[in-house]
Amino acid sequence: MSGHSSYVPTSGFMRWLDARLPLPRLMYDSFVAYPVPRNLNYAYTFGGILSIFLVLQILTGIVLAMHYAASSAIAFESVERIMRDVNWGWLLRYMHATGASFFFIAVYIHIFRGLYYGSYKQPREVLWILGVIIFLLMMATAFMGYVLPWGQMSFWGATVITGFFTAFPLIGEPIQQLLLGGFAVDNATLNRFFSLHYLLPFMIAGVVILHVWALHVTGQTNPTGVEVKSSKDTVPFTPHATIKDGFAMIVFLAIFAYFVFYLPNFLGHPDNYIEANPLKTPAHIVPEWYFLPFYAMLRAITFNIGPIDSKLGGVLVMFGSILVLFFVPWLDTSRVKSTAFRPLYKIFFWILVADCIFLGWLGAKPAEGIYPILALFGTIYYFGHFLIVMPVLGLIETPRKLPNSISEAVLGPDRGVGTGTGGGAAPAPTASAPETRG
Ligand code: HEM
Repeated sequence: MSGHSSYVPTSGFMRWLDARLPLPRLMYDSFVAYPVPRNLNYAYTFGGILSIFLVLQILTGIVLAMHYAASSAIAFESVERIMRDVNWGWLLRYMHATGASFFFIAVYIHIFRGLYYGSYKQPREVLWILGVIIFLLMMATAFMGYVLPWGQMSFWGATVITGFFTAFPLIGEPIQQLLLGGFAVDNATLNRFFSLHYLLPFMIAGVVILHVWALHVTGQTNPTGVEVKSSKDTVPFTPHATIKDGFAMIVFLAIFAYFVFYLPNFLGHPDNYIEANPLKTPAHIVPEWYFLPFYAMLRAITFNIGPIDSKLGGVLVMFGSILVLFFVPWLDTSRVKSTAFRPLYKIFFWILVADCIFLGWLGAKPAEGIYPILALFGTIYYFGHFLIVMPVLGLIETPRKLPNSISEAVLGPDRGVGTGTGGGAAPAPTASAPETRG
């Protein structure tokens, strides 16, 4: 990674290895000596939590794959066998299925943390873009994984989602047939989804390595948004971040364990315990909860827009809702990174959070009556936030006074009148906030 190494091999073997493959040096520089801002709060622990969940999903998935049969004739039965006959199979499956949900909970907190603290702003644009790519890969992986148990929602979800592609003129149908391996969701679809569901997590792991590499080049932001200026602003990763991240992981894993053992099906859909039946459409086809806001946006477009019919319009809006994230670093025109110092933008940020939850709620409702209209309003705000609020507010808002440095925000003003401007903005892990010093 970047910067100078302070690693000193402690044994003859380590000296030998260091001269040939300096992997321990890389680990030491990245996870021991690496300087992190001293005021990181718990919102910054979710990257580490995500790494744990990626490993957990891969490990449980590999063992599940040893017992799973990717054939439409016996896939459903093979999952039932995993639950009943395979040693600890029920635990593996519940960990993997609930793990997918918790992975998304963590990634949504991680993304909103990034949006709140302006983590995407210069010089971290590439770090952010790699994150959006990870998010897209996660969505593809989760969608294909959900098809594997071959339940009713697996089958009909796959039918609906692959059907979106037909909205695109000319290229739509060939793409859909390529995805399905035929003209409808069938055995060929299940086989290619299984293959890709196994492959994509390793691609995610590859992009995560680039993501963390980019992070180590630019360094982390912090709740003040003021960049690191001196060694007084940072602490070594170990023990400070290691312990904080470790504690957050234990708490998050404890909540995860509660769901695995006491509410294993709470986040799933009961219809997926009914075997796939191409002749029987479920009353309401709904995706997993983490796709609901996007599903609501898709169904919000119930009218033609010029030459674009409602179906294509919905699909474009849904893809656009993720595409817009790639441009966030350039849409936000504010000079100040952290929302903690932007009183006006803070309000809009929380409206965006509420809007996404609202869209998620609407995504689970039937597309009739008032719901598509409400979803249209939710969709307009979503795009308005990124395309209007972010660029315009950045230019006209007067931010609060920033602290001179991270250490000033944490330990109090070094000099001058103590205005207390840093107070409240930086929930510091250490010592007193400025205002307590009068
Ligand atoms: C498997 C999924 C992911 C993993 C394992 C991961 C891992 C990490 C880690 C370990 C960090 C440093 C610790 C922290 O700040 O929390 C980090 C930071 C960051 N991540 Fe991710 N990440 C993932 C997904 C994403 C996604 C989906 C986005 C955005 C769309 C994203 C954007 C960022 C940004 C901008 C930072 C820098 C934060 C800052 O310093 O302000 N990450 N990530």
